[in-house]
Amino acid sequence: MAVIVCLAIYILAACTNSDKVAPINPNGDSELAILMRNMFDDAMRMKKAIESGDRVKVLEKFKKMHTAAATEPEKVASPMYKVFTDAYYESLTTLENVKLGETAQAFNSMVQSCMNCHQAMCPGPMVRIEKLWIDTGK
Ligand code: HEC
Repeated sequence: MAVIVCLAIYILAACTNSDKVAPINPNGDSELAILMRNMFDDAMRMKKAIESGDRVKVLEKFKKMHTAAATEPEKVASPMYKVFTDAYYESLTTLENVKLGETAQAFNSMVQSCMNCHQAMCPGPMVRIEKLWIDTGK
């Protein structure tokens, strides 16, 4: 287990090209990395809202992934990144149009699409993204 965690941290550092000691460093981090961090915080708020039975709104910034500049531009220029981005955008559309009672499942599908891309391209943040799962009792 410790080995896996170390590996994850190593990959994260390699993926974002920044040392993780200073958590917020707008000058050193890429636009995409900052967007991702904001998305994570907003998704956490969405999770709380869904858990209290509220309807959620998908913020426009969630849809900026294909335009934000990344630490490794060649990675996000790849066809694989586009496939994952499209799948992720699709999950957002579903979440926006879902019936109130099915919001939690739709939100979890979005989280799954975050995880799918990260598993393939940037596994480091997965330990954090996992915290977004909503327990639907299934
Ligand atoms: C299409 C691929 C893809 C999808 C989908 C995706 N990510 Fe990311 N994510 C990346 C890449 C690539 C980076 C590295 C960005 C960089 O360093 O420029 C990243 C970085 C991150 C980081 C680390 C940012 C930092 O440096 O502190 C977090 C947290 C994160 N993503 C959360 C999420 C969440 C939450 C979602 C879903 C709402 C998501 N990601 C969806 C590809 C993706």
